[in-house]
Amino acid sequence: MPKKLYLETVGCQMNVLDSELVVGSLRRQGYQLTETTDDADVILFNTCSVRQHAEDKIYSALGRLRFFKNTRPDAIIGVLGCMAQKDQEIIKKRAPHVDIICGTGQLAQLPTLITAARETGTLQLALSLDRTEARHEVERSFESYDPSRDPSMRPNPFQAFVRIMIGCDKFCTYCIVPAVRGPEQSRPPEHIAAEVRQLAGEGCKEITLLGQTVNSYHHGSSALSDLLARIHDTPGIERIKFITNYPKDMTDDLLHAVRDLPKVSPYLHVPAQSGCNEVLKRMKRMYTVEFYRDMLARCREIVPDVAVSSDFIVGFSGETEESFQKTCDLVRDGKFKNSFIFKYSTRPGTKGHELYADDIAEEVKKRRNNDLLMIQNAASLTDHRAFIGKRVEVLVEGPSKNALKHAAGPLQLTGRTPSDHIVVFDGNPRLIGASIEIDIVDATSFTLFGNAVTGERIGVDEIREDCCEVPSATITKNDRISLPLVG
Ligand code: SAH
Ligand code: SF4
Ligand code: F3S
Repeated sequence: MPKKLYLETVGCQMNVLDSELVVGSLRRQGYQLTETTDDADVILFNTCSVRQHAEDKIYSALGRLRFFKNTRPDAIIGVLGCMAQKDQEIIKKRAPHVDIICGTGQLAQLPTLITAARETGTLQLALSLDRTEARHEVERSFESYDPSRDPSMRPNPFQAFVRIMIGCDKFCTYCIVPAVRGPEQSRPPEHIAAEVRQLAGEGCKEITLLGQTVNSYHHGSSALSDLLARIHDTPGIERIKFITNYPKDMTDDLLHAVRDLPKVSPYLHVPAQSGCNEVLKRMKRMYTVEFYRDMLARCREIVPDVAVSSDFIVGFSGETEESFQKTCDLVRDGKFKNSFIFKYSTRPGTKGHELYADDIAEEVKKRRNNDLLMIQNAASLTDHRAFIGKRVEVLVEGPSKNALKHAAGPLQLTGRTPSDHIVVFDGNPRLIGASIEIDIVDATSFTLFGNAVTGERIGVDEIREDCCEVPSATITKNDRISLPLVG
C-alpha cells in the first residue's frame, strides 16, 4: 500500500514552490497525495508568519489533530516553513503532538526526518536560527538543489515558479520575512537558465521568477534585466513574469527589458504600502511617496501598456486619519490594476513590534481596509472596462471557479493576459494550456469576460460550438498541491 501524504500550504508563492518540491521529493519515496487528513500517514503544514491570522489558522488545524494523533499515533505530523523557523518553542507547547518542525532551508531533509520521527518517536527539529548559519544552509541547499521537478505537482504543468533569490535584507519594520527567510541571496544565472530549460523541456510555457524583492536580484555583474535577456530565448517558453518588486530597485534597465523583450509580461507588482511619508519612514521603506509616484510615471512612460499592482497596509502604528487619506489619494491616482490591502498585524521579532505600539483600534483598521478596498475596486473597474471592445491574448489556465461549482452546461474557462488580467470565457477544455485570442465584451473590478476568437485565427478548431460538459473528475485538482490561502 502506498503511503499517503496530506499537505496544506499557506503564504506566498515561495511556499507554493517549496510545497511543490516537498511533494516531488516525497513522491519519489512512494507517497501519494490525499485530500483529507483522515487517511494520511504524513500530515504537513507549510506555514506563513506574515500576519497573525495566518498563524492562527495553523494552530486551529493542529488543535483539531490532537484527537486524531491519539487514535493514529503512527501518523506523522510536521510543521514546515516560516512559522517553524521562528516559533519552535510555541509549537512544542501548543501542539505537543507535532513530530517534525522543519525550517525553510531544511526542507530537503524531510524524507530523513520522517523516517527518524517514525523510528524514534521523538520530535525532529531542523532549523536555522541565526542569519549567518542560515546563509550556509541556503548555500548548501542551492548547491544540492534538485531540479528534477514533477510537472504533475503544479496546479498547471505549463506554468511554473522559479526561485531566483531567497531571503530579504530590507528589514521593513513591520515585516517578519527577513527573520524567517534569512539573508538575501541570488542564485547564479546559469543555474536559473538550466532550470528554465528543463522546465521548458517538460512542456512549461510560462515561468514566474520569484524573489521577496525580485528586482534586487544581483549575481556578480548580472542584474534582473540581464537574467531576463538570458532566459528570454529559451525554446518553448512563451511568457516570463517576475514578482515581487521593491520600488527603489525599479531601474530603467529593467523597464527597458520589460519593454524590449516580447515574452516578458508587461506586469509589475510593486507594493507601495502607504501613501504617507511619515508612515513610510516608520515602516523604513526607504522611499517617499513622491519617489513612488515618479517611479510609477517612469514605468508607464517606458512601458506604455504596463499594468501595475500594489500592496497597502492600513492601521500601521501611528497612522492618523490624515495619513490614511494620503494613502487613499495614492490609490485614487495610482491607476493600479489591483491592490492587496492588509490590516497591520504586529509581529513579535520585528522592529515595528519593538519600537511602536499597535495603537490603531481593530474597528478603525477594518473601516480603513474597506474604504481603501472600495477606492481600489472603482479604480480596477475603470482599468478593466478599458479592455471592452479589445482583443487580448490569453493563456488558458483551466475551468473558472464557477465551472468548478456547476459542472453542467458549457464550460467556463479562465486564463490571464500577458498583463495578468483574469479573463473568463466559454470554451473547450482542450484549450487548457493554449494561448488564444479573446474579444472582451464585459468587465467587473476583478474579471474580464469575452468570447474566444474562432479556430482560423487561433490555429485550433472551432471552439465555441464545441463546448462540452466536463465530468467533474477531470477538473478537480486530485493529487495536486492545495492552493495557498494567504493569511
Ligand atoms: N517582499 C514583498 C512582500 C512580502 S509580504 C515586498 O517587499 O513587497 C506581502 C505583503 O504582506 C507585503 O507587501 C505587505 O503589504 C504585507 N505585510 C507584511 N507584513 C505585514 C504585517 N505585519 N501586517 C500586515 N501586512 C503585512
Ligand atoms: Fe518584508 Fe520589506 Fe523584505 Fe518585502 S522588502 S519581504 S516587506 S522586509
Ligand atoms: Fe511567504 Fe509568509 Fe514566509 S509571506 S516568506 S510564507 S512569512
